[in-house]
Parts: sequence; C-alpha cells; structure tokens
Amino acid sequence: MRRILVTSALPYANGPIHLGHMLEYIQTDIWVRFQQSRGNMCTYVCADDAHGTAIMLRAQKEGLTPEEQIARVQADHEKDFSDFLIKFDNFGSTHSEENRELSAMIYTKLRDNEHIAVRGIRQLFDPEKEMFLADRYVKGECPKCAALDQYGDNCEKCGATYNASELKNPKSVMSGATPIEKESEHYFFKLPEFQGFLKEWTRSGTLQTEVANKLAEWLDSGLQEWDISRDAPYFGFEIPDAPGKYFYVWLDAPIGYMASFKQLCDRSEHLNFDDYWKAGSDTEVYHFIGKDIINFHALFWPSMLHSAGFRTPSAVWAHGYVMVNGEKMSKSRGTFIKARTYLDNLDPEYLRYYYAAKLNSRVDDFDLNLDDFAQRVNSDLVGKVINIASRCAGFVKKAGGHLASELPNEALLNEFVEKGDVIAQHYEDREFSKAIREIIALADLANEYIHEQEPWALAKQEGKEAEVLGICSLGINLFRQLVTYLAPVVPSMSNQVAAFLNVDDLNWDSRTAALTDHKINKFKPLMNRIEKDKIDAIISKELADAKAEANSAPAAESDSSLSEPIADEIEFDDFAKVDLRIAKIVKADYVKGAGKLLQLTLDIGESETRNVFSGIKAAYEPEQLTGKLTVMVANLKPRKMKFGLSEGMVLAAGPGGKDLWILEPHEGAQPGMRVL
Ligand code: MSP
Ligand code: ZN
Repeated sequence: MRRILVTSALPYANGPIHLGHMLEYIQTDIWVRFQQSRGNMCTYVCADDAHGTAIMLRAQKEGLTPEEQIARVQADHEKDFSDFLIKFDNFGSTHSEENRELSAMIYTKLRDNEHIAVRGIRQLFDPEKEMFLADRYVKGECPKCAALDQYGDNCEKCGATYNASELKNPKSVMSGATPIEKESEHYFFKLPEFQGFLKEWTRSGTLQTEVANKLAEWLDSGLQEWDISRDAPYFGFEIPDAPGKYFYVWLDAPIGYMASFKQLCDRSEHLNFDDYWKAGSDTEVYHFIGKDIINFHALFWPSMLHSAGFRTPSAVWAHGYVMVNGEKMSKSRGTFIKARTYLDNLDPEYLRYYYAAKLNSRVDDFDLNLDDFAQRVNSDLVGKVINIASRCAGFVKKAGGHLASELPNEALLNEFVEKGDVIAQHYEDREFSKAIREIIALADLANEYIHEQEPWALAKQEGKEAEVLGICSLGINLFRQLVTYLAPVVPSMSNQVAAFLNVDDLNWDSRTAALTDHKINKFKPLMNRIEKDKIDAIISKELADAKAEANSAPAAESDSSLSEPIADEIEFDDFAKVDLRIAKIVKADYVKGAGKLLQLTLDIGESETRNVFSGIKAAYEPEQLTGKLTVMVANLKPRKMKFGLSEGMVLAAGPGGKDLWILEPHEGAQPGMRVL
C-alpha cells in the first residue's frame, strides 16, 4: 500500500472560487479518489491562502478586520468545495498557529544555514497611507510610450517592462498621492546557492518535461535572490528577530501545505507528520498547481525544504488555464463563472465529468466550451452510461429483483474487467481523457450488446423469461464495471449506484467478482440531461453580477478587475428617458484621496444646484473649469461614493486622459436648458 500526500494550490482568501480554480480541485480530487479506490492510503489537504496586501486592503474596504474577512471567505470556499464533492481530509488556513510555528522554524533553519541575506532597497512609498507600494499599487505614464494609467511593472499599451520608479507622474492607486522613494531593509533567500541542486532536482522526474525544459532556460541564465520580507503594515507573520518585518505571503503559503497536514496529524491516529516530511521518507508527496505558480513550487519551495532538512516533493504537476468558449474568462461576457453560480443551476458532476473527459497530463490551456459541455454530458453520461441501467433494471425487477445466477456472455464481462488495468494506468498518469475514452468505448459495447439481444422483444414472447433476465443481469454487471471506473469522477452518482446494486463499495478490486444471484434495489433515475436554459441562466447571472459590481464601484475610482466596458444596445425610449441639461460649473475642487476625481458644483437653472464627482482631474485644473458650461445627465439616480453623494453626471468628449473637452460658454446656452 502506497502512502501518498496530495495538495492543491491554496486559494487566496480575497475572492470567490470560480470554474478556473475548479479545474485544479476537480483534477486533484479525481486523482485522490482514484488512489483510494485502488486501496492506497491517500491523504488530500488544502487551506486558504490568507496573507498579503490584497487581503489586508480588501478587509479595509469592507470595514472588517483581516481575521473577519478571511473567516468569511473561508466559509464560502469550504461550502463551494464540498458542494463540488471535493473531499479534503483537512482544509486549513495559512493564518494558523501551526503555520506560524512551521514558518518560523523553517526560516530559522534557512538563516542558520546562511541562506538569508539582509540589505536595504529603495522602493516607492505612499506618504499618505504610510506604506510601501508593490508595483501593481502604482500607476502612471509609461516611460516608453507615455500611455496614461499604466501599472508600475509593465505597459499594457506597448508591452514595455520597467520599475515602478521609472513611471512618469506616478500615483498611488490607494490614495492618489504622489509616491516618494524610500529605503528599507529587506530579507532575501539566497536562491543562487541552490542552482546545482535545482538543476538536478528539476531533471529527476519531478516535473513535466515541458516544465523542466522551461526552467532549464532560467537555471542556465542564473537565478536571483528572492525577497521574502515586507514592511508593516502587512497582514502576515512577523519575522522572528525582525520586528516590523513580515514574511512575504509566498514564503509561508507553501508551508501552509505542511501546516494543514500537521493539523490533520494532530487529530489522527494513523498519520504521523515526520513519516511524510522527514528527509529520505518513503512516502509520496504531490502538488497539483496551475501553470502561473510553477516558480514558487519548482524553484523556491524545493530549495527551502532542502535547506531546512525536509524531504522535497515527489512531483509537482501543473495544469493550464481554463478558457470559456475559446476565450479568456471574462466578466463582461458573463463567462467568469463563480462556483456558486454554477452550483445554483447545475449538478457538480456534469462539470467533473466534462473536466475529466478533456484533461490530460500536460500544461495546455483547457477550453470549457459550453455547447460541447452540454452535448458531451448528455450523450456520454446520460445517453450511454445511465441508459444501460435504465434499459435493464425494469426487466430484472419484473423477474423478482434478483440477478441471474449465470451470465450469458462471460467473455464480454471479462473484457470489461480486464480493461480496468489500462484505465487505471491512465488515471495514474493523469491522462483522464484517455481513461474516459476507454470507458465510453466500453459503454458503446454494452449498448450494442443490449441492442442486438433486444430483451424488450424477447420479453413479449412466451417462455423467454430466463433469457431476458440473463441478458439484463449481464447488462447490469457491465454497468457496474463502468460506474466503478467512473466513480472517482462522479462519486455521488456512484454512491447511488452502489445503493441500487445493493453493494457496500465500488472500489477497483471489488469489480473482479461478478454480481450473480444477487438482489438489487429499485432503480431511480440517476441524472437528467443538461438543459440549455440552465447554462443561459448562469451567464445571465454573471452578467448581472458584473453590472452590479461596475455600478457599485465608484466611477473612475474603481479597482475592480472589470476593465472592459459593458454596453448593450438601448432602445430609443430608453434614450428619451435621459434628461440632458446645460449646467454651469460654479465651483470645482480637488477631492482628497481621489486620484482622478474633481468635485463640481453645478447650476442647472431655477436656482437648483447639484453636487457631482467627475473623473476629469487628469484633463483640468479646477480653476480652468469654473464658469464653464457642460452638459449633464440631470436625472441619473444619485450615487453614494466613497467621497460623498454624486447627484448626476457631466458629459465630456474626447479620447480621455488629458484630452477631454467641455463646452466653452457661448451665446444662447443657459443653465437649465434641455438638450434635445
Ligand atoms: N494563493 C496562491 C497559491 C498558493 S499555493 C502555496 C494562488 N491562489 S489562486 O487563488 O490565485 O489560485 C489557486 C489555484 O487556481 C492556482 O493553482 C491557480 O493556477 C489556479 N487557477 C486560478 N485561475 C485559474 C484558471 N482560470 N484556470 C485554471 N486554473 C486557475 O495562486
Ligand atoms: Zn507603453
């Protein structure tokens, strides 16, 4: 019996689980359930990744402490996973005592081995928020092409990469303040010292070939020291002996795998932490991850373990990214599908089946094609597999509910049993699509057999009862083989089938003994076809969520990941509802803490004034605006923003940024006039 510990990457505790994440948890869960079906001792742990700046800021925005914020998200994550039938043996958090202790212990070993360097670095600092700014918290003009509003690491317009300090007109995304450069001491992990170790480790069968090849390029061109510290304020663990310095989230995140396993060991009689983690252990440890986090798992993590005197992973397996209908998941297309939205509409086993049917052991991206998804599930699972049972069960029941004591075609059943070895190898190799192809080919054989034997025609003839029962008993036996092979993919359906077959278990070995002279239970429908309108409902819900998110994020100060505009066609009647009026800007002010906004006081005639926040700071100084006329939407529903109530919207024309045009006062236009 093999002893195996398996992990999936720890999801960040700052947002909901989506179907992209689910590819990984489903892939891992299938592999784990397969190992368990084979009789191996396979343990599966995970945790929320709770540390870092993003989570700290998210909590601030929600008015919560980070602890409250991560507890709330973790509850949602755990519910999503359990509803998708992901069976963790433990789901922890990187913000746990176990992880604090293990992180401190491992760091101390690295330091004692002289694998930690300390030196000062200069970094951008937000003087208002009083914190150092990671690259993505700084925006400004690209130093190469002068494109506005680019992040501090690279330009989306021209593709240039640079340091945040090279941006022109840099602004802190958090406060709008102009950052200053400031020096601070940082702690580094001396990765270059592990070059020799890594060259060997990455080539020792621990990685997929394409991953090992990619890493070889970097290993040849030389490694950089890895900055593992962050200055306060930071949500994480303080570094022992370095007050005010915190471990960078990626330092303690993989240690979270160990910490979660430790929690499990502490309450289990069979599992011993050292059996799995001490150097030279004969147990197996596998990490399933996405392709975006390979460096952390295949360079930093094995080096840390090696230095600290622990075993290294047996293998790290990366998968590609989920695309929907051939394109990147997108909020504005409604294809950024949350696990919860899916679960509110469809059975989790549909998705588990579709992911399995298309997954292989490589790093390629994965296309979730929604039409193909429905078609595949309906034709394979419902049309082919379940159909076998629904065609045979009724005849067995009519004959008394007992399977025949002899089966008419042993050779056919043996063929199914023997295929189990090939299928098992495919699962073992993470070639799930090959396993499924074999299983569905067997389902085709079973259906052909029943089709040729025509039990429904025989049943109409006198004296053929035994023959009908024999055919259908074989049919049920073939069905049982198929469900045994599919059980890691569709565990809930396989439980229902075990109940129908009146057996305790459908583990891999149990399949070799045929079910003869055996009472079975009433057959209940196992799964319905996917209806197209359910998929449409998912997309509509995601579109509605995306719109709500866009509307609740303060205009021009939004930090949502929704960067694409959402524009449906509107009817003329909708347009006619818009009350456009000439307004005079009587006052214009800066807004403290807002990078793009000006606060305008507008005269809209009949001595009515309006307060409006407008994202035109980049184009105008307040004094340039006072006295000018503009067109405003006067009947826009007032909106509460971070800085106050905005009672309308001013219209400006132009390409944005500095080139925005507003009306010059001219004869004829008067505040309050309607624009037709
Ligand atoms: N917190 C880190 C992992 C730390 S592991 C010590 C992280 N979290 S994540 O929430 O961003 O991603 C969790 C896993 O989901 C990662 O393996 C990531 O690659 C995977 N995926 C996230 N989006 C995905 C898709 N769209 N498609 C496929 N996998 C995706 O990274
Ligand atoms: Zn540029």
